[in-house]
Amino acid sequence: MAKFIFCLLLTVAMSMTSGCDPRPDSGKGFTLPEGDAEAGKANYIRLQCNACHTINGVDQIAAEGKTPELSIALGGEVTRVTTYGDLVTSIINPSHRLARGYPADVVSVNGKSKMKNYNDVMTVSQLVDLVVFLESKYTLVPYERTVYPLFPGP
Ligand code: HEC
Repeated sequence: MAKFIFCLLLTVAMSMTSGCDPRPDSGKGFTLPEGDAEAGKANYIRLQCNACHTINGVDQIAAEGKTPELSIALGGEVTRVTTYGDLVTSIINPSHRLARGYPADVVSVNGKSKMKNYNDVMTVSQLVDLVVFLESKYTLVPYERTVYPLFPGP
């Protein structure tokens, strides 16, 4: 029992000193100002995101010049929340985590996302509005559990 209490106190002491502090490169505390979904849609079309992406409500356009013809779906039904942290990261640092559900060679070259880099041409306001627009296109649906048939009893 004494050992248990000692361990408990040690754990509490450790979490008070270091364990709970976020690392300096953590995203904790990051919050975007409010955006406008309609303006976001206009930016989506102006920046030609639809050269590589499909999304409900915007037609796809043919990829310009040498950009590959891709149809990576955005929005739709998802079983885990798509946070604005996820969306911002996907836009400004696409190679950080590649979209799930696609073979690596379809979405990346040598581990780098095929997505265009907008960081030098997109304003922060455009980014904020884009994220609000994209967020509005995701619908959270409950995770469907796989039902296994019960084995017949002995
Ligand atoms: C040249 C093609 C191309 C263009 C143009 C492009 N993307 Fe992408 N995008 C990709 C590819 C390929 C992926 C999948 C790999 C990855 O996750 O980076 C992707 C992934 C994403 C994801 C993550 C999707 C997921 O399911 O995780 C978001 C969000 C996204 N793009 C938004 C945008 C927005 C907004 C624009 C316009 C400002 C844009 N993209 C323009 C190619 C493109």
